[in-house]
Amino acid sequence: MTHPIPRKTFQTSEAASQAVAQEIATLIRGKPKPVLGLATGGTPLKLYAELIRLHREEGLSFAHVTTFNLDEYCGLDREHPQSYWNFMWRHLFDHIDIDPANVHLPSGTVAEQEINNHCAAYEAAIMNAGGIDYQVLGIGRTGHIGFNEPGSAIDSKTRHVLLDPITREDAAKDFGGIEQVPTGAITMGCGTILSARRIALLAFGAAKAAVVDAATTGPVTDQLPASFLQQHPATTFFVDQELADAS
Ligand code: F6R
Repeated sequence: MTHPIPRKTFQTSEAASQAVAQEIATLIRGKPKPVLGLATGGTPLKLYAELIRLHREEGLSFAHVTTFNLDEYCGLDREHPQSYWNFMWRHLFDHIDIDPANVHLPSGTVAEQEINNHCAAYEAAIMNAGGIDYQVLGIGRTGHIGFNEPGSAIDSKTRHVLLDPITREDAAKDFGGIEQVPTGAITMGCGTILSARRIALLAFGAAKAAVVDAATTGPVTDQLPASFLQQHPATTFFVDQELADAS
């Protein structure tokens, strides 16, 4: 069934991030083995800062939490400064009491002939953990969620994908030039994401207004994978006033 996606607008991206952090904290405090789906990129940085604050100042423990990240660039090992593994440890995991054994990201360096098995094992690990309770998402200019670019199927699973040229362009500044940006990634699929029990998509700033409008109120189409979220019963978009003013 298709639902218009509820949007919560906050004065600032900090306030929106704090609201998502509160939902996550409530889940973590209320469930013996909560499972989080996590995103990288600029958007969730304030959310991770708030989760670290809740850990340090309010005793929120992640010792019983399991995490699965959405994606990883192909060709980057864990230590590469732009790898999502590196990003997650730098911005979150190094600062909380999570058990490293409970942290999962796809591998960017798995041998080509092993990629399908690796992706199937990632799906199986999510299932074995009990499924994702709470999925954090950002949204790309192409309407991607994870690295599910236009053309991705609604029931797609974790797999190898090629990045859209627009996505590579957006990453160019982090890599010091578009030629340094990997061409491929391993990403959870749209189907994997839609299996999460609760989804929070964060989007901030005027530049995201058009894609957010299209995803939340436009047609459900594989040309804008975030529009698939209209078919998820418990998704909320958390946006800031700057985005709302431009939409
Ligand atoms: C990151 C991811 C991407 C980003 C999106 C937005 O793990 O899967 O979908 O959420 O590209 O990136 P930012 O937040 O940098 O604008």
